[in-house]
Amino acid sequence: MKLVTSGPKGTNDLMPKQTDKLQVVEKVMRDHAALSGIKEIRTPVFEHTELFLRGVGDTTDVVEKQMYTFEDKGGRSITLRPEGTAGVVRAMLESGIYNDGYPVKLFYFTTCYRYEKPQKGRYREFTQFGVEMFGTAHPMADANLIIFANGLLEKLGLDDCSLEINSIGCKTCRAQYHQKLREYFASKEVCGTCSGRLEKNPMRILDCKSPSCKELAKDAPMITDYLCEECEDHFTKVKNYLEVAEIDYIVNPQIVRGLDYYSRTVFEFVSKHLGAQSTVCGGGRYDGLVEEIGGNPTPALGFGAGIDRIVLAMEEKGVEFTPPVGCEVYVASIGEKALEKSLSIAKNLRESGVSADYDICGRGLKAQMKYADKIGAKYTLVLGDNEIETGEAELKNMQSGEKVKVLINGNFATEFLDKTIESMLK
Ligand code: HAM
Repeated sequence: MKLVTSGPKGTNDLMPKQTDKLQVVEKVMRDHAALSGIKEIRTPVFEHTELFLRGVGDTTDVVEKQMYTFEDKGGRSITLRPEGTAGVVRAMLESGIYNDGYPVKLFYFTTCYRYEKPQKGRYREFTQFGVEMFGTAHPMADANLIIFANGLLEKLGLDDCSLEINSIGCKTCRAQYHQKLREYFASKEVCGTCSGRLEKNPMRILDCKSPSCKELAKDAPMITDYLCEECEDHFTKVKNYLEVAEIDYIVNPQIVRGLDYYSRTVFEFVSKHLGAQSTVCGGGRYDGLVEEIGGNPTPALGFGAGIDRIVLAMEEKGVEFTPPVGCEVYVASIGEKALEKSLSIAKNLRESGVSADYDICGRGLKAQMKYADKIGAKYTLVLGDNEIETGEAELKNMQSGEKVKVLINGNFATEFLDKTIESMLK
């Protein structure tokens, strides 16, 4: 087979085997959000480029190296979203949803686009489940968010992720820290990109992927030694609340996160079932972003969880995915009259909320039964001339082999439910 082209590098086609699993994971996420009163938001795949320049930060790897940016036909610079937070903040401000009162609590499923070197768990198009909360500066909000993410991973069977937290301070304490970093790196040989970052944003060097910068970062001064009193107090309270919730954590002063908007608490959940790309969830507080994007100063916080990586980790750990019901009843038929009847029965079942299937390929009975087996039909019903004439057929439970007589001329869905409940009660 010679295709016109293959799928673009770093993208994945998600086939039913994968989407079945994704539906399970997404349902757990939705249900988990609903339990905490977090509402869904959907924002566009593309935004004006300046949103990310200002929001994510123009000295980050994401903005400097990874964005899919192009000019549209109207001459505007457009960027495919590399992450979800900036768009959510813009939409929150534009919609005025904050007028309904704080805290605003939102979740989203979003595809993101980053021009990265693809490898297992790292793609150019990937999906995040994200949560953003606005309007609370209280350390309980930080703890609550981390507890929420922890509970979600537990529900997904990833109860063995390690939680790493840090505080990267606020504008006040960071000024002194930046100076310490400049002094430390001044005499060192950092990569080309980082030498440009030294003056403007030296903390970014700590997040650089180049091996030489990574090595230098190990002995660099740590932000935790320079936190101001308020930030120190905030961090102590967050840790205390996590202890009250009996959540294990490790303070990792190396965590700075790859995006510029963070302040104070940052955190990552790391899975031991993945290779180099092992962070399944990352986030933190970003108290300056709303103002940066043009709103009134508003404390905020959130996280993004990589769904592709979560599914990989679940597969590696051997977590069972209970797939959505495939087919409850397969209606097989022999002959044209029976085929027409199978159409009516399947339509009636589907309208009543029972999943059903029937032959749309003109196959013989043997091939139909093979197909019913392949799609995992729980029950089968075989219709032929005899059944059409008598108005009665046999419904077979494919697992137990048990058969019950059913009437096929009335409301079949009611008959099906009555008979299956009856046989369950026996
Ligand atoms: P992030 O750490 O860049 O944060 O991404 C969050 C998660 O997305 C990562 O922990 C990882 O699981 C997944 N991820 C990131 N890049 C890739 C990739 N190339 N391929 C597959 N999965 C990936 C953010 O995006 C922030 N917006 C999170 C946030 C929300 N912070 C506050 N609110």
